[in-house]
Amino acid sequence: MPHHTPSFVGRVAELRELRNVLAIDRPEGTVAVVQSAFPGIGKSALAFEYAHVFSDNYPGGRWRVRAEGVSDMARAFIRLGRDLGMDITERDEADPDQAFRKVRAELQESGGCLLVFDNVDRPDLFQLTGDRALPDADRAHILATPRLERDLWPTNGTDFEFLPLGALSIEDGLRLLERYRGPDGGDERAAARAIAEALASHPFSLEVVGAFLALDANQATTYRSFYEHEIKAKGLTLSLDAAGGAVTLSRHDQSVITELLRHAFAQLHAEERLVLDYAALMDAEQVILPMLREFAGKDHSTLLEEGATGTADAWNKLIARLSALRLLTPTDAGEG
Ligand SMILES: Nc1ncnc2c1ncn2[C@@H]1O[C@H](COP(=O)(O)OP(=O)(O)O)[C@@H](O)[C@H]1O
Ligand SMILES: [Mg+2]
Repeated sequence: MPHHTPSFVGRVAELRELRNVLAIDRPEGTVAVVQSAFPGIGKSALAFEYAHVFSDNYPGGRWRVRAEGVSDMARAFIRLGRDLGMDITERDEADPDQAFRKVRAELQESGGCLLVFDNVDRPDLFQLTGDRALPDADRAHILATPRLERDLWPTNGTDFEFLPLGALSIEDGLRLLERYRGPDGGDERAAARAIAEALASHPFSLEVVGAFLALDANQATTYRSFYEHEIKAKGLTLSLDAAGGAVTLSRHDQSVITELLRHAFAQLHAEERLVLDYAALMDAEQVILPMLREFAGKDHSTLLEEGATGTADAWNKLIARLSALRLLTPTDAGEG
């Protein structure tokens, strides 16, 4: 699982509902699908928060299955098996049914685990064929976050329970901003609220603004000035109208988010941009930090220096900043 987000706010009812679906209402097992009409609403964040909050209930572990581009459950299980530290041989890979059985057997042995299929974008992933079946409900709870419209999910075989997820309430949106920088006084609070309202309490957009304000070390930008100059003067407002429930943003909403990101990117130092440029060339799920450091160090040798205590000060600081801006998310293993 990725790191739990310390800035996570709200979603109490949703967390309770997920718990009900997975553990209480449907003991015979069902796949809980967190559905939203837009990206950046917080489907994945909700799934990771669920895993964090209910970790004690999953002694067999909590695993994220990277489902992007995967249309065959056996392929997803092979990835999972490797993450579980299983010995998946080339022979297993050549025989997906065999690999599926092997990983499933391992899950059946687990003391109860959680599987989060993150960013599902191929409808056939849960269309299980032959004698394949998901692990028993008392062995594995399954949660999926799709980039697919609801109509595209398979209708036979697996039982799904869809949980629609909307934007945060304005109060929670304000709270999200406060996690990054507490508004100083009543007018600042009012301006922060105006930002949350203009951006329809869309978590990703608020996070871009919050991360920018948090990193503005001498606080030259206030909530008020950000609102006046970057939002109001530019007429930036998100509408998030769920036309037909499509998993897309309208052209208008997209350009609002692009404008916010443009502003955030403009604040980056040259070496930070270079690191992101290199990262963009790698597989999004497997950015290798030491490799990035080596590449970027060719142009910016300070990144290769070890500090007085033997730590890589400049490099660590850069990675910390990019992580704080959510432009990179280091994993537990620390390598990418
Ligand atoms: N409830 C929340 N509290 C704080 N931050 C959130 C919340 N929901 C989402 N975010 C942040 O917003 C961004 C987008 O969320 P994400 O889960 O990736 O969206 P989705 O999976 O729906 O596309 C993430 O960086 C996430 O940390
Ligand atoms: Mg997601």
